[in-house]
Amino acid sequence: MEHRQLRPFPHTFLWGSASAAYQVEGAWNEDGKGPSVWDRYTKLEGTTYKGTNGDVAVDHYHRYQEDVQLMAEMGLKAYRFSIAWSRIYPQGRGEVNEQGLQFYDNLINELLKHGIEPIVTIYHWDVPQALMDAYGAWESREIIKDFDAYCVTLFKRYGDRVKIWVTLNEQNVFIGLGYRLGIHPPGVKDLKRMYQANHIANLANARAIQSFRRYVPDGKIGPSFAYGPVYPYDCQPETILAFENAEELNNHWWMDVYAWGQYPSLMWSYLEREGFAPELADGDSELLQAGKPDFMGVNYYRTTTVAHNPLDGIGEGTMNTTGKKGTSQDTGVPGLFRTIRNPHLEATNWDWEIDPIGLRVGLRRIANRYGLPVLITENGLGEFDHLEDGDVIQDDYRIAYLRSHIEQIQGAISDGVDVIGYCTWSFTDLLSWLNGYQKRYGFVYVNRDEESEKDLRRIKKKSFYWYQGVIKANGIQKE
Ligand code: NOJ
Repeated sequence: MEHRQLRPFPHTFLWGSASAAYQVEGAWNEDGKGPSVWDRYTKLEGTTYKGTNGDVAVDHYHRYQEDVQLMAEMGLKAYRFSIAWSRIYPQGRGEVNEQGLQFYDNLINELLKHGIEPIVTIYHWDVPQALMDAYGAWESREIIKDFDAYCVTLFKRYGDRVKIWVTLNEQNVFIGLGYRLGIHPPGVKDLKRMYQANHIANLANARAIQSFRRYVPDGKIGPSFAYGPVYPYDCQPETILAFENAEELNNHWWMDVYAWGQYPSLMWSYLEREGFAPELADGDSELLQAGKPDFMGVNYYRTTTVAHNPLDGIGEGTMNTTGKKGTSQDTGVPGLFRTIRNPHLEATNWDWEIDPIGLRVGLRRIANRYGLPVLITENGLGEFDHLEDGDVIQDDYRIAYLRSHIEQIQGAISDGVDVIGYCTWSFTDLLSWLNGYQKRYGFVYVNRDEESEKDLRRIKKKSFYWYQGVIKANGIQKE
């Protein structure tokens, strides 16, 4: 849609930024914290870029006051962060760790003191190692009650002050990379196990939402989904079929369950035929139906363009985790679709195509299909930054990226989408999981790299001041 005049951002719009516990906190074994699967996995030979891990990360655990001070200086309206399950329950269940609870109390209070709305992600990939050892974590239905107990502890402790909650971060990613590509913990390549673990995660998500209604009746809760809206490569009818296959398998397979408590039927029959469909137990459907979210959380970075892929076509390819442009491979599901580079889009050094309009497309699709408000829980640019003399970082490329995406959000709002807020990824630089520290996303540079923790000094980038202006103006100002 073209608009003669764009709608302004609502006055309640949450201009935010985000992080995740393992990527920022460090203090991996302090104050009673138990190990998570990431504490273990990153120490296995060859799993991450240059063997990096989050033992220290950017030391947010010890520097949270300084970080919140920077957020306040920026004028941030909301800060999304995750809670490390194994800080609260070192063994994943059983005895609760008061020191862990206290840390997040302090962080939440610090945010509120500065008028910053805390948005809590309950689970950002760091399942306690003890639960992996005990029953294979997401592969066992036992996790549903343990996750629920953990959630209830958080709701009771923080529900008076935290009103916006995110259940599972990027379930499609931690399940897909953990059980299909085998490059996240537990490093398994098995589609049957993948779809079963995913189903159990869906049930845990729904159960947590049910409990939330009881303990935080005035709050809002939803999952955050890694949404890569799919485009057909061209208008050949067979490409359109491939496009529909991909949108169903990559996206509706998750979002339909969140929003409607139901799996998309064509993909269900495809997976059943392939022998990968999850096993449903009595009461599963009812539970899924009972755990509807208040909003769809969306992590948006890129679109996916697809074409026809025959039964003997391409399968999994490798990902670029080094920042050497052009090293990622196309991937596909034989008989359904294959990815193909979109010739109209530029890509980052990690081969992620940059597509602000794709965000608007995704927001519109969610509004049309599910009628839910959307909270953009992540969006940002991972790039190399250059620290110049005098502590200057001129990240104009990041400003351009964020600006163009914010413009499209305003476009989506003008189209009629209810967008509650926008959390950029990320506030400070942080550990980018498999990609080490060189793939930087923050408004605040952290002086460390893969080889050394250096002094972990915080330095405001040019984008810091730019976003400060956006928040102040409640949108992009005309130049
Ligand atoms: C999504 C994940 O939630 C976050 O943890 C990650 O660092 C960003 N994507 C960037 O890859």
